This record gives sequence, C-alpha cells and structure tokens, in this order.
Amino acid sequence: MTLDIQEKTLARLGVLGSGKGSNFVALAQACNAGKVPATIAIVISDVPDAGILDRARALGIPACYLPPGPFRTKLDEQSEEAYVAALRDAGVDYVVLAGFMRVLKGRFLRAYPNRVVNIHPSLLPAFRGLEAWKQALDYGVKVTGVTVHFVDEGVDTGPIIAQAAVMVEDDDTPTSLHQRIQEVEHELYPAAVAALVRGELQIEGRKVRRLTRTGR
Ligand code: GRF
Repeated sequence: MTLDIQEKTLARLGVLGSGKGSNFVALAQACNAGKVPATIAIVISDVPDAGILDRARALGIPACYLPPGPFRTKLDEQSEEAYVAALRDAGVDYVVLAGFMRVLKGRFLRAYPNRVVNIHPSLLPAFRGLEAWKQALDYGVKVTGVTVHFVDEGVDTGPIIAQAAVMVEDDDTPTSLHQRIQEVEHELYPAAVAALVRGELQIEGRKVRRLTRTGR
C-alpha cells in the first residue's frame, strides 16, 4: 500500500537514446537512490542493438526499439506518432533524451510541451551538433563543458537549464576529453532532471529560472 502511494507520487520518465546509455544508467541510479523523485517507465531507441536497450533490460526497465523511418537525422511523422503513443502508453510525464541522435519536431514536442530535455557535451551555444568535444578540441578552447537544456525544434538550441565547465588540457585527445565531460554529465543530468520533476524550473522566454535550490 505504501509502495502504491509512493509509486503514484513519482514522476514517470521516458528515456530516448541511440548509444551506449551511460547517462541513462546514471539517471536510473539516481532515481533508485531517491535523488531524483522519478521512475524510468520506458527506454526507447532508434537503433535496434543500442547498448542503452541492453542496459535498461539488465535493470528490469521496459525497453524497446522503434523504427525511426527513412530519414537519417529525424523521425518521420508516422514514427513520431509511434514514439508518442509508446510514451503515452507507458504513462510518461517527461521525456529525457540521453544520446538520442535525431531532431524531434512539432508533433512530438506538442505532445510534451516544455517536458523534453537533452544533454549536450559542450557549453552551448558553442559547438552545437555532433562530436562537440572534438569540435572544442579542434577549435583550441581552454574550457568546454556540459549543457542540459529544454528541447525545441532546433539542434541544441532550447532554453538552458544547467551548465558545468570542463577544463581542456594540453595533452587531451578526443577520447580523454569526452571521458571527463561524461563524468560531469553523469552528475549534472540527474540533478537537472530532479529540479525539473520537482517543478522547480520556470521558463520565461529563453531564460530558465530555478524557483528553489536543492542540494546536488
Ligand atoms: C553524451 O555525451 C551526451 O552529451 C550526448 O550523447 C552522449 C550520450 O552518451 N547527447 P551515453 O549514451 O549517455 O553514454
């Protein structure tokens, strides 16, 4: 009985990912530890053999591949409908993108207004798009980092929720820099999702205001 009541007060997250799913695992661990008042209801991937699906199943979380349609960088309309239907069937309140390599468009975003978030491996608006850690290294910046943001129809352009810096070292390779960025991601994303599901974030135009501060 107590468990039933607790389950009902937890926000339900749907996680979308195309890759290995390390951010998903960090989020799942934070949910299990009670640091994020949420439960991951479903994991969906556009890649049939994505690591994120195996990792979800290993944790006993429902996980499925949904075909993305014919385009390379977005879902077609039919697929968008199928993704939204699967999320709704799972009772999802918020959608968390964790390495999902496709742009979401109006139909999807209208189904979850201001309820879709993404993590990007740079300090936006610098280095939008693919392999942002490599872009940062090639550009020669001394500081890069991580951004959590709401998702709009652009590529990595939505209102910014949280950012954290990562120093670039002289001897960094793309692999070493990405690894340090990911360590920061695994802290920042659960903290930002916790603020989101607690209703602590207020969007005013491009600005996201944090209503109350909680410990990370
Ligand atoms: C992360 O670096 C994230 O910033 C980007 O995609 C990567 C996903 O990594 N959006 P993982 O699958 O969570 O390990």
